Amino acid sequence: MHTLINAIGNTPLVHVPLASSSTIYAKLEYLNPGGSVKDRSAQFMIEHAEQSGLLKPGGTLIDASSGNQGIASAMIGAAKGYRVIITVSQKVSQEKMQTLKAYGAHIVICPATDFIDDPESYHSVALRLHKETPNSFMPNQYFNPLNAQAHYTSLAPEVWQQSKGKITHFFAGAGTGGTITGVGRYIKERNPDVKIIAIDSVNSYRATNGNPKPYAIEGMGIDFDSPVIDYSVIDEILTVKDADAIGMLPKLAHTGFLVGPSSGAVAYAAQAYAQKHMKETDHGVMIFGDSGRAYLSKGFYEQISPTALRPTRSELRHSNT
Ligand SMILES: Cc1ncc(COP(=O)(O)O)c(C=O)c1O
Repeated sequence: MHTLINAIGNTPLVHVPLASSSTIYAKLEYLNPGGSVKDRSAQFMIEHAEQSGLLKPGGTLIDASSGNQGIASAMIGAAKGYRVIITVSQKVSQEKMQTLKAYGAHIVICPATDFIDDPESYHSVALRLHKETPNSFMPNQYFNPLNAQAHYTSLAPEVWQQSKGKITHFFAGAGTGGTITGVGRYIKERNPDVKIIAIDSVNSYRATNGNPKPYAIEGMGIDFDSPVIDYSVIDEILTVKDADAIGMLPKLAHTGFLVGPSSGAVAYAAQAYAQKHMKETDHGVMIFGDSGRAYLSKGFYEQISPTALRPTRSELRHSNT
C-alpha cells in the first residue's frame, strides 16, 4: 500500500553549480514528507520499537529534538496514531515550533544549555518525561545506535546507487553523527578510497575541546561525546563559522536551492574543500538536510543579489512614462 510513511526516502540526487571544477551533487533530503533527513532515522527507530514490542498501540512517543527529528517523530506519530511529546531547545525557529504544533504534538520548551547532560537540557527533560509516562517510547537519537543504522539501511544505498559507484567524496553535517556514520560505513565497505567528510560548527563541543560557544546553525554541530559517531569511518571533519554557512544561503537560493543553514555549512565546506583538494574528474555528494522554508523568519535569505538591484527593462520603461 502507498502510505505517507512509505513515501520517506528515494529523494533525488541533483547537480549543484558550486564554484569548483569538480562535479558536486546534493541529495535533496528536504523532499522527504516531514521535510528533512530525519524522517529516515525517526521511521527506523519507531518501527524497530513497534516490532520489538517497546511501543504499543495507544502509546506515547517522546523525543528530544532541536527540530527536525522531533518534526519527523510528530509526523510519524500523527500518521500512526500515537500521542507525541517533543522537548526542544529555545533556540529552535518559530516555524519549526509551529510545525510541531500543527502535527498535534505537545511541546516542552527548555533553555539552550551548553551541555546535553545539564538537568535543564531538552535531552534530560525528555528522559525524565519518558520515565514518568507509562507506555512511552523515546527514540533517543543521541544514544541509539539504530540512528546510524537507519542511514546505513536507507540513505546510504540510495547515495551509492544514484551515483553509480562513481562517488569520490561524501560530505554531510554532523549533529548526532548518525548520517555521516551510517552512510560512511556503507560506502567504506564498498570502496574504502571514498573520502568521508563530516561538517561541524567551529563553536561545537568537539571543535572547541569541550568549551562550546553558542552558534546559529540548527541541527548540526557535535555537542557531546556521541556514542552514535564512529570516527573510524570519517576521514576528515571540517569546521564552519555561522557567517560562512549563512552567507552561502542567498547564493544557493539564487540558484534554486532554498536550503537550511546546515546545508549552507555543508555547501560552503564542500566548495572550499573542492577548490583545494578535488580534481576535475572527482564526484562529490553532499546532503542537503532541510529546507530554507523553516528559517525564513531569521532573515538569512534577504541579502539582495547584484542582479536583483538592477532595474528590469519593463521597470525602466514604466519609470520613463
Ligand atoms: C538539517 C539537519 N542537517 C544535519 C543534521 C545532522 O544529522 P545527524 O544528527 O545525523 O548527524 C541534522 C540533525 O538534526 C539536521 O536537522
